[in-house]
Amino acid sequence: MTAAQQVQAEAAVRLDGITKSFAANPVLRGVSLDLRPGEVHVLAGENGAGKSTLIKVLTGIHAPDDGQVVVDGAPVRFAGPGDARRRGLAVIHQELSLVPELTVADNLVLGREPRRRAGRLDRRAARAHAVAALDRVGAAIDPGTRVAELNTGQQQLVEIARALAERPRVLVLDEPTAALSDEEARTLLRIVAELRDEGLGLLYISHRMAEITAIADRVTVLRDGCVAGTMTRDDLSEDRIVTAMVGRVVENLYQHGDRGIPADIRLRVEGLTSAAVRPCSFDVRAGEVVGLAGIVGAGRSELCRLVAGFDRPSGGQVTVDGRVADPSRATAAGIVMLPESRKTQGLFLQMSIGDNVCLGTDLGRRAFGRTSAALRRQAARGYAERMRIKATGLDQRVGELSGGNQQKVLLARCLARRPSVLILDEPTRGVDIGAKADIYELVNEAAAQGVAVVLISSELPEVLGLADRVLVMSGRAIVAELAGTALTEENVIRHATGRTEPLPR
Ligand SMILES: Nc1ncnc2c1ncn2[C@@H]1O[C@H](COP(=O)(O)OP(=O)(O)OP(=O)(O)O)[C@@H](O)[C@H]1O
Ligand SMILES: [Mg+2]
Repeated sequence: MTAAQQVQAEAAVRLDGITKSFAANPVLRGVSLDLRPGEVHVLAGENGAGKSTLIKVLTGIHAPDDGQVVVDGAPVRFAGPGDARRRGLAVIHQELSLVPELTVADNLVLGREPRRRAGRLDRRAARAHAVAALDRVGAAIDPGTRVAELNTGQQQLVEIARALAERPRVLVLDEPTAALSDEEARTLLRIVAELRDEGLGLLYISHRMAEITAIADRVTVLRDGCVAGTMTRDDLSEDRIVTAMVGRVVENLYQHGDRGIPADIRLRVEGLTSAAVRPCSFDVRAGEVVGLAGIVGAGRSELCRLVAGFDRPSGGQVTVDGRVADPSRATAAGIVMLPESRKTQGLFLQMSIGDNVCLGTDLGRRAFGRTSAALRRQAARGYAERMRIKATGLDQRVGELSGGNQQKVLLARCLARRPSVLILDEPTRGVDIGAKADIYELVNEAAAQGVAVVLISSELPEVLGLADRVLVMSGRAIVAELAGTALTEENVIRHATGRTEPLPR
């Protein structure tokens, strides 16, 4: 056997010259890669490079136009996702697929409910199954909780627990840590390392460089639907991956803008509280970027949702430029928030990029309130270009865009509203490294124009790199304010959690 044959024989699954187009838009152009048992194979690439499409071909959602999927040395044609699953290919997609109205236990046994002899659901067995599945991923979640009540991080763990219950030999994870805090991401990486050591083949998509270099045995980089390079553990580095991804060196990722002298207080939050947040007070000046740090569940999103009027406070008040902002009319007061979950809290997937950007703004409106599609397109074009949104055109439906590009559309809409106060909840979630740099530039630019910016991010370097001041939340209250020389990663972590741990290997 030659060395090449050896590799092929060992592969649990192989993709051979996969080609796929949507309408006339070629997305994958002859992609080949293999996945061996007991390895973590990272798939990297810019937003829209074709990563999610490739794994949809691998897991039976899309049929390739050309090329083949080879399982155990034999070419297969999947009849659908169920078919791929039965052959041991489990996948966790970028957008979670749990049923929010059902409990965790119900979601975990969905489609394979344990039955009593009379055919009725065996509740006790279902619960035991759920407890064991959650235990496998180290999730301290009551199986009786409704999924809608869980935060994104917890939902992600439930999703993984469900995939593992089928005992797959290949597990594909599409940006599993994008929505997780550093702490939760560490837990997930530990699970991934364990599964690899048990002999599972893992195909892992991520935009987080630190975790890629920590966990990967091999990295394949996709660029514009082609393989731009494959690296092994011994020869991979962050620089090599980024260069293969974007074709240029990304320098000075975190550039603190020149904000000049502090201006007047623009946003004032006084004793704002609800069932989910203890009374919180803070100020943000015009042109200032204030970071909100803390672990998932600390109350950051909840606090911001109160400020932005998404949820009703039970006490306290918000003022913008000295005027009290009525919670039901926060937008009119100039407060705009980029929400945490783009699918459920923001984008209209059936609508075009242009319409999504202009929604709720005066853009594209003629005299007498009539809107013009041409004017809207024109208004949206500037933002689309600034953010390098990858699409066939501004008329493309947002639902057809890649995950990272959807995020850019949502941010474009926030900026298009010309806010006085801009609240960003995880603005670079799922966004590639080049696009991150673009987004940071836009945040700096907004601040330079006098916008008061509040930034929630689970990526500490991002908060430290952009913010003038950082408020640390823990236990649903603000527990520390850090600025100047006190603003260090260690201090933030100490206040947020009280401990630090390195990434596992
Ligand atoms: N159903 C579809 N219809 C039309 N175009 C699509 C469809 N699905 C994906 N595309 C296009 O295919 C390209 C690749 O998308 P894909 O989701 O695979 O990117 P990705 O590498 O996963 O990006 P991200 O990092 O942003 O998630 C994009 O330009 C996208 O617009
Ligand atoms: Mg994707």
